[in-house]
Amino acid sequence: MDLIEVQFRPERGDDIAKIAEITSAAFGQADESHLVERIRASTFFVPDLSIVAELAGLAIAHVLLSRIWFRDRNGYLSDVLALAPVSVAPEYQGRGIGSKLIEHALLRATELGYASIILLGHPNYYPRFGFVPSDRFKIALPPFVTDQSAFMIKVLDPARSPSDGAIIYTPAFDDVC
Ligand SMILES: CC(C)(COP(=O)(O)OP(=O)(O)OC[C@H]1O[C@@H](n2cnc3c(N)ncnc32)[C@H](O)[C@@H]1OP(=O)(O)O)[C@@H](O)C(=O)NCCC(=O)NCCS
Repeated sequence: MDLIEVQFRPERGDDIAKIAEITSAAFGQADESHLVERIRASTFFVPDLSIVAELAGLAIAHVLLSRIWFRDRNGYLSDVLALAPVSVAPEYQGRGIGSKLIEHALLRATELGYASIILLGHPNYYPRFGFVPSDRFKIALPPFVTDQSAFMIKVLDPARSPSDGAIIYTPAFDDVC
């Protein structure tokens, strides 16, 4: 497989079952797939930011960025994005597809005018995309997170970076947070 053959596009209606299959297979459980379904059914879903990677017309990976709130110390709410989940079908993992997919998603989020993206993920993987520990921006650690270095942010527009406040997870995340 040549990475150049992998194409990226927003999800379509006929991808839904395949996305659930890829997500469940990647994580070895259905929780993250259910998260995708709940976000998709919510007002926080951004259709352009549910992105599928396909190879020869076959979906092999998926990433979802959805809207979430940041509340600053004055109570002012603003939109940021949450990256969750990202899944590469097990037989395609470790070949650079996840990285290309994430890079593509960051580019699309920037083009759509979003200011920043938060995630809970592996501290060895996401810094390569420009994610940094969120405490650099004085963003409070959610109560369910124990590892400070896993709660990360990528600022897309430094003029609008969130600072000194907390992320308010949307109801879709209730069962996973
Ligand atoms: C994590 C994942 C999206 C990465 O995509 P990928 O196409 O396999 O990864 P790439 O080939 O682009 O990059 C390989 C790197 O990812 C790392 N990696 C693979 N799985 C990982 C995981 N679960 N957590 C952290 N890093 C992981 C590898 O160690 C490798 O690191 P290196 O470049 O320093 O050697 C994919 O492996 C996957 O779907 N895993 C199962 C689901 C999951 O864990 N999702 C992310 C939750 S934070």
